[in-house]
Amino acid sequence: MAAPIGVFDSGYGGLSILKELVKELPEYDYLYLGDNARAPYGTRSFETVYHYTLECVQHLFNEGCELVILACNTASAKALRTIQQKDLPLIAPNKRVLGVIRPTTEMVGELSKTKTVGILGTSGTVQSESYVVEIHKFFPDIKVVQEACPMWVPLVENNEHKGDGADYFIKKHLDNILTKAPETDTLVLGCTHYPLLMDKIKKHLPENIKILAQGEVIAHSLKDYLQRHPEIENKCGKSGKLRFLTTDDNLIFDKMGSIFFEKEIVSEHCQM
Ligand code: DGL
Repeated sequence: MAAPIGVFDSGYGGLSILKELVKELPEYDYLYLGDNARAPYGTRSFETVYHYTLECVQHLFNEGCELVILACNTASAKALRTIQQKDLPLIAPNKRVLGVIRPTTEMVGELSKTKTVGILGTSGTVQSESYVVEIHKFFPDIKVVQEACPMWVPLVENNEHKGDGADYFIKKHLDNILTKAPETDTLVLGCTHYPLLMDKIKKHLPENIKILAQGEVIAHSLKDYLQRHPEIENKCGKSGKLRFLTTDDNLIFDKMGSIFFEKEIVSEHCQM
């Protein structure tokens, strides 16, 4: 059977990644799963995020995926390693699960001239220290500062991200991170929801600061992965098909998801 590439997020955020995957690799089939019924993940415990993520990965495997991308930083930070090391060998030794943190950290150090990188993410991602640990593996001399932005995901989920109220919370966290390290010249949007806030983030930042959104980085990294792993690539469907699943109401997903994906979406409800 031709396998779709599974793309998982707690909700809508991963659609900002899927959009770039489709742009870079349009020939493949993709199956998106948003666990909207249980989002947000960003404030949940390690155990809960791990348990939810594993269930969703298993669901995508049952739907025929051979490769699943955790297009969610929180899930990548809190669940990926355990799934790769403990679960995969038992449940699906020939299938693969990849995250979004590693590809970002592999290259971000090259962008900073002041050798200071800021990470903006959910509380879960920041507390996990995953970005700090991973960046230091590739760039030991880079200073990494972090800022949790717990209000940013709700702003997006409630479609308030373009409203005037959003400016307050966006400015607050950008000011905070630049106060911690004024020499920061590179900021990572370490949450797949944050690209939707890009206009306002730019508005409140000095022009010299580079902003790294993950979509393109992940798309390049997937292309490279598929070239290096023909045993997975050969199993991937190549009809350019897109399918969307949500654990919550599919009509609401269609409406909100279209904003993230910048194209109309028709989704199906699925039960975890
Ligand atoms: N999109 C998720 C991420 O990249 C965060 C959303 C949530 O809190 O569920 O971290």
